[in-house]
Amino acid sequence: MDERTFGFRTRALHAGTPPDGETGARALPLHLSTSFVFDSTEHAAELFALRTYGNIYTRIGNPTVAAFEEKLASLEGGLGAVATASGLSAQLIAILSLAQNGDHLVASANLYGGTITQFGVTLRRMGIETTFVPGSDLDAVRGALRDNTKAVFTETIGNPKGNVADLAALAEIAHGAGVPLIVDNTFATPYLCRPIEHGADIITHSATKFIGGHGTVLGGAIVESGTFPWAAGKHPLLATPSPGYHGLNFAETFGEYAFVQRARVEVLRDVGASISPMNAWLLVQGLETLGLRMPQHVANAHAVATFLRGREEVAWVSYADLPDSPDRALAARYLPLGSGAVFAFGLHGGRDAGRAFIESLELWSHLANVGDAKSLVIHPASTTHQQLSDDELLAAGVGPEMVRLSVGLEDVEDLIWDLERGLAAAKRSAEVRA
Ligand SMILES: Cc1ncc(COP(=O)(O)O)c(C=O)c1O
Repeated sequence: MDERTFGFRTRALHAGTPPDGETGARALPLHLSTSFVFDSTEHAAELFALRTYGNIYTRIGNPTVAAFEEKLASLEGGLGAVATASGLSAQLIAILSLAQNGDHLVASANLYGGTITQFGVTLRRMGIETTFVPGSDLDAVRGALRDNTKAVFTETIGNPKGNVADLAALAEIAHGAGVPLIVDNTFATPYLCRPIEHGADIITHSATKFIGGHGTVLGGAIVESGTFPWAAGKHPLLATPSPGYHGLNFAETFGEYAFVQRARVEVLRDVGASISPMNAWLLVQGLETLGLRMPQHVANAHAVATFLRGREEVAWVSYADLPDSPDRALAARYLPLGSGAVFAFGLHGGRDAGRAFIESLELWSHLANVGDAKSLVIHPASTTHQQLSDDELLAAGVGPEMVRLSVGLEDVEDLIWDLERGLAAAKRSAEVRA
C-alpha cells in the first residue's frame, strides 16, 4: 500500500479510531470499565512489570482513553500522549514528570491565572520554584535560566491577552540550557498551531476548551514530541533508577517514549487525576470536527475584533490578527490560519463600563470558560485572575478595564448586534458617572 500522510481533518476522524476489531462498531466504543481481566498470572506479572503493553486499571489507561490520546498525538505531530482529568492536572503531571523539590522553572507571565497560582503557589510549596518573565522578552527568559532549571513554559496564545509566543526562539533558548520547551496549546489547538513543528518538546492542553468544543466536559492531555534527549544529564528523574518503579531507568528502558511513560505509569498513577472514559469519548467526538469548527471560530473572532477596533467606546483590542497588533509578525509565522477566538479588549470607563457592558448582553454568556461553540464573555480581573497580586496582574497585562471574549459559532451579525447593545450600555454608564 502507498505510504500517505493524511491531512488534519482525515486524521481527526480516523487516527486512533479504526472500526472496532471485536464488534465492527464504526463509532468509538465506550469502555466504562475500571479494570481488565488478565489472561494468566504470568500475563498479569508482565503487564505490571511493563514488559508487555495492555490494559490493567483505568487510572493509568483505558482503551477509550487510549483512542483519544492517539488521535490527539497524531493531530499535534507527537509521538504519544497521556490524557488527564483537566488541563491543570495535565500541567501538574507534566511538571512532576521532570522536576522535583529543589528544581526551577521559567514561565511566561502571560498565562491563565490558574496556571500562575498553580506554579507560583502550589508548586512553590512543593519546592519547585518558578520565575515568571514577560513572554516576549527573550533576554529576560535567557537571564532567568539557572543550573537547576528543568523546563521553560509558555502558552501559544496567552490567556487572557491573546499575545503570541515566539515558539522557535523559546525552544532554542530552552535547548541551549539543556531543558525542554513546554507549550500550553489550548487556545491555538493543533488546527491553528503545532508547536512541535517549531521546536517545542511537550504540549499540554485543557481539552475542556476547543477540543471538547461544547462546554460539556473537563479534560486535559500531555503530548510528547519524542525528540528531547532525556538522558543528556539535566533530568535525573527520567534517566536514573526510579524507586517508584523498582529501579526502572525510563530513558534507558523506553528511549523516546521515556517522558510519556513516566508521566503515565509513575506520576499519573500516583497523582490519580485520570480522565473518565466517558469524557475521553466525548472529547473524541469534539476532535472529529475541530478542523471544521476552528475556521468558523477564527472568522467570527476576526469580524468581532475588527468591529470593536472601530468603536469609540473601545480603548484597545488585543487580537494578534489586527493590522496594528504588535504580535502580528509572530501570528503570521505561527498562526497562519488565524489567531484563535479568545482575546481581550479594554473599554473606556474602566470597571463600571465593563460591568454595564457584560450585564446588558443577551447572546454572550457571562461565565468562566472559553472554547465553547457558544460565545462567552468575562471580566478577568475580578474572576479568572482574581487571585493574582497587583504586580502579577500588571505582569499578566490584566487591567480593570479588560473584558475577555471567547467568540463562538453563532451568526456573526447577531453577535455584533448584541455587542452594540453592550457598548451602548457601557457608554450610558460612563455618561451617568461624568
Ligand atoms: C490556557 C489555559 N490552560 C489551562 C487551563 C486549565 O484547564 P482546566 O480548566 O481544564 O483545568 C485553562 C482554563 O481556563 C486555560 O485557559
